[in-house]
Parts: sequence; C-alpha cells; structure tokens
Amino acid sequence: MRKIKLSVPSLTEARNRRKEETLKVFYSLKDEYKGIGNGKTYSVLTYGCQGNEADSEVMTGILEELGYTQSDDEYNADVVLLNTCAIRQNAENRVWGVLGRLKGMKKTNPDMIIGISGCMPQEPEATQKIMESYPHIDLIFGTHNIGNLPKLLYEAYMSKSKVIEVLSTQGNILEGAPVKRALKHKAWVNIMFGCDEFCTYCIVPYTRGKERSRDKEDIIKEVMELKEEGYKEITLLGQNVNAYGKDKYDDYSFGDLLMDLDKIGIDRIKYTTSHPRDFDEKTINAMATCKHVIPWLHLPVQSGDDDILKSMNRKYNMERYHYIIDELKRRVPGIAITTDIIVGFPNETEEQFEHTLDLVRYCEYDGAYTFVYSPREGTPAAKMPDNISAEEKDQRLYRLNDLINEYALKGNERFIGEVVEVLVDGDSKNGEDMMCGYTRHNKLCHFKADNKDIVGQEVKVKVTEAKTWFIVGELYNE
Ligand code: SAH
Ligand code: SF4
Ligand code: F3S
Repeated sequence: MRKIKLSVPSLTEARNRRKEETLKVFYSLKDEYKGIGNGKTYSVLTYGCQGNEADSEVMTGILEELGYTQSDDEYNADVVLLNTCAIRQNAENRVWGVLGRLKGMKKTNPDMIIGISGCMPQEPEATQKIMESYPHIDLIFGTHNIGNLPKLLYEAYMSKSKVIEVLSTQGNILEGAPVKRALKHKAWVNIMFGCDEFCTYCIVPYTRGKERSRDKEDIIKEVMELKEEGYKEITLLGQNVNAYGKDKYDDYSFGDLLMDLDKIGIDRIKYTTSHPRDFDEKTINAMATCKHVIPWLHLPVQSGDDDILKSMNRKYNMERYHYIIDELKRRVPGIAITTDIIVGFPNETEEQFEHTLDLVRYCEYDGAYTFVYSPREGTPAAKMPDNISAEEKDQRLYRLNDLINEYALKGNERFIGEVVEVLVDGDSKNGEDMMCGYTRHNKLCHFKADNKDIVGQEVKVKVTEAKTWFIVGELYNE
C-alpha cells in the first residue's frame, strides 16, 4: 500500500478570505538539499498563463541551484515537472495527454521523477484522479508550495511513496527565490498574486489564493536590477494588476507604481491583466504620461451585455467600459487595445451575444482571445445550467472571431508605411532570412535581416504589409 502524505486540497478552504496579514517568506536552501541534482537533468513543461510561466522560471532557478541541468529532451529527464493550468477543460486535457505519454518514458527510465504542479493540483478532483489513476506520478504540489521544491524532491528520492503537498491557503509572498529567466531581454515581474474578484466562471481565486501585493520597494529593486542586467522590457504580472496595493497601502496604487517604475528608465513597461472594475484615473494618467509604458492595453471584457456581466460578477457595465476605452483613446492616441471574451455563458441569448458583437465594433479591438465557456467544478457558474448547445457555442465563437479578425487586420493596416521600433526576439518562422519581434504597440513584426546579431536590440522597421496576426517590414536605416 502506498503511503499518501497529506490530504487532497479543499475548494471550500481555498475560498476563505480572512483578515490575516500576508506573510513575506524568504527563500533559503538548507544544506542537506544542496547538490541533490548534481549530474542529473530536468525538464519543466508549462501549460498556463504568464503567471504560470513566471512560476516555471522560479522552479527552473531552484532546480539549477540544486545542481540539475536542462535536458535536451523535454519529455525525458531525471526530473520532469508539469506546471499546469485549470482555467478551461481543454487546458487540463492537454496535461492528461502528456501524463499518458510520460508513462511510457518512465518504463524505460524507472528512476525518473515526474511531478505535477500549478493550478490543477489545487483542484480536489484533479488531485484525486492523479492519486488514483496515475501511479507513475511521484510528486504533486500546488501554487503555494514552489519554495518547498528542494524538500519535496528530497522526499521523493528518499521515500518510495508519492509526495503530495497542496495547500489550500490564502497564500504568502515568496521573496528571494532563484529565477532562471527564459530570455535575456524580456522579463516577467510579479507585482501581486492571487485574485479576490471571484468572477463566477473562474477557478483562479481558488487555485491562487487571496489578492496580495508585493512590497513596492521589492518590485522597484527587482526592476532596477533587471535594468542593470541589460533587460529591455518588463511585463508586470498579476491576475488583476489594477488592484495593486489595495491590500497594503492607503494611498499607493497601480498608477503610482507605474509612475515610479517609469523613472527607472527601462525601455518598455507593459502589464497584464487589467480588470475594468479597478481601472482608475491614475492608471489612465500614467498610461498617458509615462514614457516607457507602452501604448498597449489588454483589458478583458468577457461580454458586451450588462446582464451577462452581472451574472459573471464582473462589477462593471457597458457604460463604464465604454468610458475607459474612450478616455484611453483620447489620452493615449493610437493606443492598441486587446481583450478576452467568453461566448456561451449560461443563459446567454442570441441578443446578448449580439451586444458583444456591438461592443467589438465600438472598441475596434486590435485583437482578442476568445473562448467557449467551460464549466469549472466548484465555481458558482458551474451550478447554473450550461444550456447553450455545443453547436451554438461554436457558431458564436466563429462569428465573433470573424469580426475580431476584421478589426485585427485594420489595426495592423494602420501601420503600413510607418517606421516602427521592434524589440527583436529572434528568428522568424516566416522564412530563413527573417527575424521577428514586437513593436511598441505590441504588434508582432516579421522583417528581413542578414545580420542576425540583433536579438534583444530595438531596431527600426518600415512596415510594408499587414496581416491579421502580424505585420511585415524591412529594416530601416535613416
Ligand atoms: N485575470 C485575468 C485573466 C484570467 S484567465 C482577467 O480577469 O482577465 C484568462 C481568460 O480566460 C479570462 O479573461 C477569461 O476570458 C477566460 N476564462 C476564465 N475562466 C473561463 C472559463 N471557465 N471558461 C472559458 N473561459 C474562461
Ligand atoms: Fe478569474 Fe476574474 Fe480573477 Fe480574472 S479577475 S482571475 S477572470 S476571477
Ligand atoms: Fe491557468 Fe492557473 Fe494561470 S488556472 S490561467 S495557470 S492562474
């Protein structure tokens, strides 16, 4: 009989929001764990949002500190960690598929340790299923346990049992953990963790704990260090960055943070994700005045219908959303705006869906992530009738995407003939002599380059062509 440590997580516990102060925890590595990865390899696979990617960079940092080196084969290593996402059923299905594939790998490499982390283990059903049906998984840990990775790995080596550590707590703030950043010119910077919005369809407040902000001094210090190290761009991360500071300061909010970070002088500052409810005048002002904050905003709307928004618990209406968009377009001329939209939410009528189409026409989005509603066990919406047929949901998604694409193309065409600044990421998939990167409006740009020594630099490109998903241009020399 396998020994199972600790019980499965609890969504009821995870829903609690108590008044306790958030603990700031400093990472430190105990001597007994040092070198446990010497001579061994690792692979970290990431399935979630940018916050999940940032977590993977911390896990990678810890693994390298322990002595592990990155494996050439992402599915075969001495330690394979799957950092998972629970936002929609199809995100989970991908992970179940990979778990099946890893089973075969483990047969040829029985000493391999397979771990699963991130948002899926925070769900009781998922953890239960892994415990019962996936005996080849050695390690299960949640979003609140990343700093414990050395101990968990050590236990996985020492014991013959599955090691499970998933806390359904409100969460603390981990500072000082090693980070292995994937790129040398662009960096994620967490400014806050968790979410207190409780949109009725969403699992994140349960998997990530309460909304908690990092100390502004810690964020400012991290960005100063990134600038010193030569980073050109930072993306500030949080599920609802506009609520930054609310749990901590009386008179310091997201707009103030943008102003302070702007002074550091790092080339590009962007942020995700914004919530219209907390998007305030200070932030609009910072967008309009900060030189380094790029003219791009991702402002998820989810629906263009007031009743659906209410049923989603989004706490704003179309009037307020229109106001924010109008103000931003007025104060930040040419700003690129993108969004997230869900179709087929419980009880969404054809007319309500058409309100979403009207909103897209009004905002003329530069792009959008569009999703079919996916019920998440334990959320309030999961108790509502999932009463839009699969065909109808697909139809709505199709019609919505058609309209979104029309405006995305228009949003790209406006740059034809202009010279834009592109921060170069690397080789483009569009041809051997091509490279790609992003403009200050966050537009993906492909361009021809003979000298490929420009990764991480900002170059000038004259735009010659616009497609739905990207623009094309030529290097421009004044
Ligand atoms: N905190 C961010 C993003 C969270 S997840 C925000 O509030 O915008 C990213 C997107 O996934 C959401 O904006 C939403 O459009 C979508 N999403 C979340 N839960 C979903 C669900 N149950 N079904 C379908 N889409 C969902
Ligand atoms: Fe989910 Fe809403 Fe929080 Fe975004 S703001 S993470 S959609 S609950
Ligand atoms: Fe997915 Fe968790 Fe992010 S559910 S979207 S990885 S917060």
